[in-house]
Amino acid sequence: MKRILLAFLIAGFSFSAMAQNAYNLIPVPKQLTPAEGSFTIKKGMGISIADESLRPVAAMLANQCQTAAGISLPIKVGKASTGIVMLVNPSLGEEAYALNVSSKKIEVQAKTGKGAFYALQTLLQLMPAQVHGKDLSATPLTVPNCSVQDEPRFSYRGLMLDVGRHYYPVDHIKRFIDLMAMYKMNIFHWHLTEDQGWRIEIKKYPLLTQLSSIRKESTVGRYSDKKFDGKPYGGFYTQEEVKDIVAYAGKKFITVIPEIEMPGHSQAVLAAYPQLGANADKIYQVGTKWGVSEDVLFPREETFTFLENVLTEVMALFPGPYIHIGGDECPKAQWKESRFCQDLIKKQGLKDEHELQSYFIRRIDKFISSKGRKLLGWDEILEGGLSPNATVMSWRGTAGGIEAAKQGHDVVMSPNSFLYFDYYQADPKTEPIAIGGNLTLEKTYSFEPHLPELNAAETKHVIGIQGNVWTEYIKDLPYAEYMTYPRALALAEIAWSPMASKNYADFKKRVTGHLPVLDIMKVNYAKAFLKQ
Ligand code: ACM
Repeated sequence: MKRILLAFLIAGFSFSAMAQNAYNLIPVPKQLTPAEGSFTIKKGMGISIADESLRPVAAMLANQCQTAAGISLPIKVGKASTGIVMLVNPSLGEEAYALNVSSKKIEVQAKTGKGAFYALQTLLQLMPAQVHGKDLSATPLTVPNCSVQDEPRFSYRGLMLDVGRHYYPVDHIKRFIDLMAMYKMNIFHWHLTEDQGWRIEIKKYPLLTQLSSIRKESTVGRYSDKKFDGKPYGGFYTQEEVKDIVAYAGKKFITVIPEIEMPGHSQAVLAAYPQLGANADKIYQVGTKWGVSEDVLFPREETFTFLENVLTEVMALFPGPYIHIGGDECPKAQWKESRFCQDLIKKQGLKDEHELQSYFIRRIDKFISSKGRKLLGWDEILEGGLSPNATVMSWRGTAGGIEAAKQGHDVVMSPNSFLYFDYYQADPKTEPIAIGGNLTLEKTYSFEPHLPELNAAETKHVIGIQGNVWTEYIKDLPYAEYMTYPRALALAEIAWSPMASKNYADFKKRVTGHLPVLDIMKVNYAKAFLKQ
């Protein structure tokens, strides 16, 4: 009897050990129950969908099986008791799904296409890595049996890409979005304007693309070295390209948030429209150095007209709820010295330049809110008083986010100490040049958005987290991928998976097991974590 029990225990143990290896899911689902056996997708099968709302997601699965393994899976509306079946379950949450794989059937349940899309990402991760390839070598497309019940912890799961310092072509932006979607991230924050380049076509202000999108040269190496390459650098997205990217992201259930920086980080604007700054007669240049520029927008009526016109065109292109207005790193020296600004401070009954910035942001908030959108800004917008409808993106650690949540405002946590993917991820001596910092995969993974400083009601204001890819030193997509992956996988897991399932050793094992997928997709991920 004892022996039988022992054999049973060993069998059970080895089965679960095997199961753990086979299910390298990132982010780890809320609930996963492995089972014995598997389902194999074969020629002659099809996908049954409960209604047309599920067709786009079914088509993605069919396309991937066709490309990777030459298996065509016709899609038909109807019910089936075997094969691949997608059902509508109205009792599930907006982003939730259930996935049941047995030897007879793969069954997806979701309320909408969104949940079905996340089920698809899980299903694809359960298949052989080759399903992500194109060389028809993925047969057999076997999926281990299991039952998954899943839904995200946070509604905001974001990555930001700075295209101001370096321009990324449309197809590279799409690739960035593709990878995000695989890990159930759902917000692409597109940092479109910087001192060193304005990157979005605004029809009313053509000089923004004719002048502000081009700098005469770029910094070489560390910006403290003060070396320049002497080569003009530029690029921008036409409104048609923007619409194309927004639609592309939408198909992958990713909302694009545009960022138009104000009142700081606006030197490129001043190069075209100097009347919006300290001195209309000054010749401003598009920035060529990294860092924080002293040249900022002035809170003149003309500036507000300009910004409202710009934002009107921007809001027409981006249908999502949030419009990011920057608000970070605005030096106040020029406002301090300006008779106009000092008079305005008096006239408005403001205390100082911080309250003047708050006045600036409040006016923009009022405009954005009047159009039914929500203002999002970096945590400096707290200084001088937070505008009534603002959502705060906490980047200088979590303090700004804590304060905003205590004031009853929604917050996205994006602390530089954990989620700045432009920071080094290993010893700088062994890494390509980066801005600084020291942010290993483990450190990123250790970020916990549930902060002891916040009570239960305040914690509800933390709507999610975001990783930021600032590109002063990140000139192209391969390097951006190197800095972003695998750290974005940690971000995806913090944002999606239950807090109770957090376990770095297990995460690292799953990431390691998942590397063949990144290899097949030719993602230029960093390998430093394997030795850490
Ligand atoms: C920031 O990193 N300046 C938001």
